[in-house]
Amino acid sequence: MTGTGSSTTLVPEPYVWTEPPLGDAKSAPTAFYTDPEVFRAEVQHIHLKTWFFAGRVEEVPQPGDYKALNTVGGPAILVRGEDGVLRAFANFCRHRASILLEGCGNANSIICPYHAWYYRLDGTLAGAPGMREVPKFEKPPHGLIPIRMEVWEGSVFLNYDENAPDLLTHLGNMPELLGSHRMGDMVRTWHVEIETKCNWKLLLENAMETYHTGIVHAATVGAQRSLSFPTVGEWHCIQVQANRSIAVLGQEPPFPVIEGLSEQSRKGTYFTLIEPTTQFACAQDCMWWLAVRPVAVDRSVLSVGGCFPRAYTELPDFAERAAPYYKRWEAVALEDVGILERQQVGLNSILARPGPLSWRDDMVLAMNRWVLARLPAHIRDGMGA
Ligand code: FES
Ligand SMILES: [Fe+2]
Repeated sequence: MTGTGSSTTLVPEPYVWTEPPLGDAKSAPTAFYTDPEVFRAEVQHIHLKTWFFAGRVEEVPQPGDYKALNTVGGPAILVRGEDGVLRAFANFCRHRASILLEGCGNANSIICPYHAWYYRLDGTLAGAPGMREVPKFEKPPHGLIPIRMEVWEGSVFLNYDENAPDLLTHLGNMPELLGSHRMGDMVRTWHVEIETKCNWKLLLENAMETYHTGIVHAATVGAQRSLSFPTVGEWHCIQVQANRSIAVLGQEPPFPVIEGLSEQSRKGTYFTLIEPTTQFACAQDCMWWLAVRPVAVDRSVLSVGGCFPRAYTELPDFAERAAPYYKRWEAVALEDVGILERQQVGLNSILARPGPLSWRDDMVLAMNRWVLARLPAHIRDGMGA
């Protein structure tokens, strides 16, 4: 996928698409969204090898704060140690694998609810009742298993592949475009998780095109126009053109424009996809994420969360001002999920065939290609892709 301009600059274009010619490009084969074998290949070759969003550092600000989450590689926890360092571990006991923590909270140590082995906040095994009588047992090899973690601008990413390129390499020139939003100075104030009956890719494709917005979101955000950015790195970007925040509906945005926001960023809201499952949407006054957790070929969990600059969250009337944003984020997400579950049902038809793409589907094509390029040849060939 290359743009019609330089691929190293961040100048928006109507669409980022050179071939195949418009009129020849088609949506992906239906097996891409319906075949469990394709899903298994995606997990193995994509999800377990790339960075995915796990939350925000301010969700676990104090020593002992933890957050448990389900990931495509299994249960995980983020824990802040007594030394103030944030770490990520697999959330299971090294004895016989019980889950250790659930939800969010604060703890002095991590105690297994099954046979009470207990771990320090840095993951080391502190005690294992009755194990002194067991020959050859030693505590040091049985600490919690760390998961690779990196933080960018307050957002925590995990990766199950020790050999994957680092997060900044993955993000390419994204920090250049989104830098002036200063997401590191933002605070997550709202979050929902929505269980969906559709393939993970449908949720993300939908979030990267405005072809549908005038129809699916007629009662909320309405029709939108976007420009596409040629990008460098494992991400895609469009900007919905609007000279004021589209994170609230039908009213003047209750919050001012972020201080120091770049000229380009004032022109609209960026919708990005950090491959493969993380979307950051950045408006003039806030950011929100869509992070998708693939569960099965036709099941996904959609996490949506909203963040505002810290100074806004300290205003005495913050909750009142922020309420319409939360309402909009949830309403629009549910509208999308509604249509995507219908799309999944249609894709399940034995008569379903790839359809011609619109020029407004440019990011859908880019995203399909990104995934297809990472699947083994026999899977691609088996789909007719
Ligand atoms: S499974 Fe944790 S102590 Fe036995
Ligand atoms: Fe939508």
